[in-house]
Amino acid sequence: MLTPPPLSLYVHLPWCVRKCPYCDFNSHEFRGAGGTPPFAQYVEALLADLDHDLPLAWGRTVHSVFFGGGTPSLFPAEAIDAFLQGASARLRFAPGLEVTLETNPGTAEHGRFEHYRAAGVNRLSFGVQTFDDAVLQRLGRIHDSAEADAAVKLARDAGYDNFNLDLMYALPGQTLAMAERDIERALALQPAHVSHYQLTLEPNTVFAARPPSGIPDEDAAWDMQERCQALLADAGYTQYEVSAYARPGMQCAHNLNYWRFGDYLGIGAGAHGKLTLGAEQAIVRRWKHKHPTAYLAVAGTAQAIGGDERIEPARRPFEYMLNALRLVEGFTLARFEARTGLSRTTIAAPLERARANGWLETDGDHVRPTALGRRFGNDVIALFLDA
Ligand SMILES: C[S@@+](CC[C@H](N)C(=O)[O-])C[C@H]1O[C@@H](n2cnc3c(N)ncnc32)[C@H](O)[C@@H]1O
Ligand code: SF4
Repeated sequence: MLTPPPLSLYVHLPWCVRKCPYCDFNSHEFRGAGGTPPFAQYVEALLADLDHDLPLAWGRTVHSVFFGGGTPSLFPAEAIDAFLQGASARLRFAPGLEVTLETNPGTAEHGRFEHYRAAGVNRLSFGVQTFDDAVLQRLGRIHDSAEADAAVKLARDAGYDNFNLDLMYALPGQTLAMAERDIERALALQPAHVSHYQLTLEPNTVFAARPPSGIPDEDAAWDMQERCQALLADAGYTQYEVSAYARPGMQCAHNLNYWRFGDYLGIGAGAHGKLTLGAEQAIVRRWKHKHPTAYLAVAGTAQAIGGDERIEPARRPFEYMLNALRLVEGFTLARFEARTGLSRTTIAAPLERARANGWLETDGDHVRPTALGRRFGNDVIALFLDA
């Protein structure tokens, strides 16, 4: 039996000051009239979009909200406030729910953080990437390390203890010592959470077309990951997902819900949602038109929907593992059954193979990836393709 899991709300805010050459997110430099994106109009579009999706989530409670981008911190606090007020009038918000806003340190202005806080944003995620100014330039970032430090301090002064710092490693020209220094600089800011991503050359980016020189090879990248993980562990940050580290109790509730194969509404240009429909015993995915201008014109109508699909039972084991095996905690077979609607016997054979390869370990109902399994994550997940 499929049982609807916790529900989250993802809100995509698609504009950036400048497009970074490595980035394949749905993010766009604003080039329209007036010099700034149409914030108020976009909030109206988001609420219309939410109205249109509401039948997929009748009566359910939202456990987290995440403003992702793009650069959500371009939006004034009044726009974020208007959206949150509108959304909470349409959906039940769990008391004390986590509300995260992604922030580019180059857009932080004095006073803004207090207002975000008053609007209900209780968690910030800063795109720091690195504290090395020369590397920041090569990454095409709009800020230097002093601005990153200053932005985080402003947020702390505004009462934010719960914040994440995004760092990337295996950057052009980066050595192991430089990667370690980034962790040290990040730790000095006392974040609750650190996301540590290996730079990937994504298709259709400037970096993919013209790779920068000096990108560390896979062995060097692995060394950086291991060493930085150890530094974070020494400072009390436990790895709970491939790229995520947190102080005790400070994991990101929103991302955890994705990785536990929870449900989410996806509102905004190019946003993806995944919902379990208990009555129909179905899991559906829905995504929205990608381009902000096209989205603005049609949000709230059927035309805003880029696509709808059902996740058929045969595909569910793979999709489940794609998420759950990113987690250090792994999953329980009871949760696998509740969230896929399938019996545990459907995955008995690939589970056994993964165990024999030393990729997964089981303890009663509990399945966990081993360190080796996390290193060869794609091979492990592939076992579940034809389960
Ligand atoms: C939507 S962005 C965060 C907020 C804001 N747009 C910014 O960049 O400051 C999400 C994060 O994904 C990471 N990221 C983006 N592109 C990446 C890539 N090609 N490889 C690895 N990490 C990447 C960066 O750390 C980035 O901060
Ligand atoms: S600021 Fe963030 S979302 Fe925008 S282009 Fe750069 S990495 Fe991508």
